[in-house]
Amino acid sequence: MSGRLLIAPSILSADFANLGREIAAVEHGGADLIHVDVMDGHFVPNITIGVPVVRALKRVATKPLDVHLMIEEPDRYIEDFVAAGAHMVSVHVEAVPHLHRTITHIRKLGARAGAVLNPATPALMLEDIAGDLDFVLVMSVNPGFGGQAFIPHSLEKLRRVRSVLDGAGSSALIEIDGGIDQSNVADVVAAGANILVAGQAIFGSSDPEAATRVLRASANQLVGG
Ligand code: DX5
Ligand code: ZN
Repeated sequence: MSGRLLIAPSILSADFANLGREIAAVEHGGADLIHVDVMDGHFVPNITIGVPVVRALKRVATKPLDVHLMIEEPDRYIEDFVAAGAHMVSVHVEAVPHLHRTITHIRKLGARAGAVLNPATPALMLEDIAGDLDFVLVMSVNPGFGGQAFIPHSLEKLRRVRSVLDGAGSSALIEIDGGIDQSNVADVVAAGANILVAGQAIFGSSDPEAATRVLRASANQLVGG
């Protein structure tokens, strides 16, 4: 595992009429990934982005697209999302009956595969799949909307996930998603987070490029890089 922390702005809170400009801004600010929240109105109450938008994002983004699928039956769409340009694809443990098959499928298609845990889903759910994962996404809010408050128990969840991964000899990265801002970044990193998703903290600010730079600087300071 690299010591470097990755910053992944979530475009859920971006100006959808100007996605190209918004992405360029956070890339200038030091974003490592572009986090794309796909919601279907079934697995979560909200509807957001689909395959054609990911394809369009791929044309303008210079950083890898990190596609977070908050949808039922994700297996039906994974191939299309990878073909559209997804570099990382994560699926919710709660949404797939055959997680090993789904993860294997994502990797076979050439993308990085991640498993996502809702706040109420125990870290132990990953015990027997840990060795097959490229990353784990820990939800620190209930998925569906940007701008929600960070759930404090997520710190304990991060530690438990790291311990499950270490127990399996896995160097998979841990991504934290939901309510991340300057006030909790040090805590989540200390608890084991390697990839920091931030929506509102970046695109809710009047200057997303500067907000990315601030988060980037705190992250660098935390790992001494
Ligand atoms: C929530 C999404 C998040 C969200 C994060 O369901 O998965 O990626 O955009 O946004 P903030 O940082 O505003 O909580
Ligand atoms: Zn997300």
